[in-house]
Amino acid sequence: LAACGSDDSGSGKDDGKIVMGFAQVGAESGWRTANTDSIKASAKSAGIELKFSDAQQKQENQIQAIRSYIQQKVDVIAFSPVVETGWDAVLQEAKAANIPVILTDRAVDSKDTSLYKTFLGSDFVEEGKKAGEWLVENAADADVDGDGDVNVVQLEGTTGAAPAIDRAEGFADAIASDSKISISKSQTGDFTRDGGKQVMESFLNSEKGIDVVFAHNDDMGLGAIEAIEAAGLEPGKDIKIITVDAVKDGMTALSEGKINFIVECNPLLGDQLMDLAEKVVAGEEVPERVVTEETTFTQEQATEVLADRKY
Ligand code: AHR
Repeated sequence: LAACGSDDSGSGKDDGKIVMGFAQVGAESGWRTANTDSIKASAKSAGIELKFSDAQQKQENQIQAIRSYIQQKVDVIAFSPVVETGWDAVLQEAKAANIPVILTDRAVDSKDTSLYKTFLGSDFVEEGKKAGEWLVENAADADVDGDGDVNVVQLEGTTGAAPAIDRAEGFADAIASDSKISISKSQTGDFTRDGGKQVMESFLNSEKGIDVVFAHNDDMGLGAIEAIEAAGLEPGKDIKIITVDAVKDGMTALSEGKINFIVECNPLLGDQLMDLAEKVVAGEEVPERVVTEETTFTQEQATEVLADRKY
């Protein structure tokens, strides 16, 4: 287990302070960094002792971290699952130990919803849908080579992760309303900048007439920009780019015209998470699902808000 951030020593429940064990996905993207910062800052201001671990995008590390939090008898466990499947056994162990679990950011596919108290995070299907709807509205402009078809390549997030599955689904549903738009290639870039760059390089080598990139996050879109520029093309003009997140680097590229549209995914979940944690530890009822409020940004809107963008 790769621990990072606050200390991981001692056990909970001694000094009356709530102790939370948080098993983070990793540090794969700008979004994730903002999410980690938000959780650490909110724990501090709520007076919650945080035990934080970074799973480096590996499910086995997250399971190990959760088991260690159970052993340490923390008051509450929160985590953002790397992938959707394979959590039942460890969640049953937490339940048997009477430790409430809160899912943040990403969902699990467990049939037994009593294994966790609540799920706080975005509606990823809706995010993919907003991206696809923008493309449908802007299809004429997005047919960059004017051949009558809009040829989309997709940079997927981590295979098996809820945002990768759901954004692909929402996007596919939305573009199904326009038969001119189709996805010719789709491959994972693991939500990283480097992954996006490498996959885009291979797409550019193997696929003729790419009009649009749909990247499941800003970081992969930013990697794609590097590959497109290296191929002597102009991102945002020769190839349109749609991404998800709206972190500062993504918003900067949007405002510079290198990205065409961003669907926001809000990483600032810390305050809501601490509030839910206090409630579940006190045995209070909490909603099963808390959906984050989010918007979308065009190039003009990004320019307007960029100076005040915090992350
Ligand atoms: O789960 C949220 C996703 O994970 C963000 O869109 C992405 O940037 C991150 O890695």
